[in-house]
Amino acid sequence: MSNLAVLTSGGDAPGMNAAVRAVVRKALSEGLEVFGVQRGYAGVIDGDFIKLNSSSVSDVIGQGGTFLRSARCDEFRTPAGRKKAAEKLRSKGIENLVVIGGDGSFTGAKLLSEETGINTIGVPATIDNDIACTHDSIGYDTALNTIIDAISKIRDTASSHERAFVIETMGRHAGFLALAAGLAGGAESILVPERKTDVDEVCQTIQKDYEEGKIHSIILVAEGVELEGQRFETNREMNESPAFALSKEISDRTEFEARVTILGHIQRGGAPTGRDRLLASRLGAAAVDRLLAGESNVMVGLVNSQVQASPIKDAIEQEKELDMDLYELSTILS
Ligand code: F6P
Repeated sequence: MSNLAVLTSGGDAPGMNAAVRAVVRKALSEGLEVFGVQRGYAGVIDGDFIKLNSSSVSDVIGQGGTFLRSARCDEFRTPAGRKKAAEKLRSKGIENLVVIGGDGSFTGAKLLSEETGINTIGVPATIDNDIACTHDSIGYDTALNTIIDAISKIRDTASSHERAFVIETMGRHAGFLALAAGLAGGAESILVPERKTDVDEVCQTIQKDYEEGKIHSIILVAEGVELEGQRFETNREMNESPAFALSKEISDRTEFEARVTILGHIQRGGAPTGRDRLLASRLGAAAVDRLLAGESNVMVGLVNSQVQASPIKDAIEQEKELDMDLYELSTILS
């Protein structure tokens, strides 16, 4: 093995740059040549490769976003697109690819490896933290802290005006961000897709809190939540989301006036936390180790605080379960 390529794909996550840096510097330390692919799989198909050296990744460890840029690529979802991608890699003499991204990106990595023989290693990076075979994904901790910071700020104005605030978090179909941020931020209620929500119950609790003298109510809602059988898909263009629906119910059924804050893409930005930088550094370096060991089609993750490689298939197919004990705890502590 003489070289590898690295790309970032799907929704960006704070710490992606730190992961690229780790891949680059670890690979260079092993005497490998390194190529960065710009704009994810779209860049592989277009042959958008840049040679990376140690100074290419200077000062990126603390930068949010991804300097390699990211994209979602429809062409790569087809066998023809993946064949073209493999040809482009091979035209540069590249047989090894590190994919930093979420489950959609890993499906692409798995198929590329199986169909074309390109060696692929996945590094989990998504704020949603919905990837199995790793306790945390890169970017999750930073997003969590961003949300906690937002809750503190919103609580100030909520208390001043004696209002209820429905705060919507990202997370796609998972409630990891909402649950952890709600618990750590001291929210009064937390709504997650993994647990059916009874709007009556939520409103009764908020009203009871009001009657007992609470001067605000913070309700964290994951964007993928289901309200009384109605599944919401946040539609950012149409301004549709479970948060607005719930806010209306709270205003109608309790004595609190309710407001909505959709945190949106602010959750994807910002300098990565120390935890995310460490995770990215460890996993990026481990990805290079796995390639050097002759492995492919695996994802590196953190299991019981140790770096561990798992079949990428398991990371995609296994469902990562929300910690319901944590959920119960949040209801006791709120
Ligand atoms: O997967 C990361 C994520 O930020 C989700 O939490 C969210 O649902 C989605 O991406 C938003 O995607 P886009 O940036 O394409 O609107």
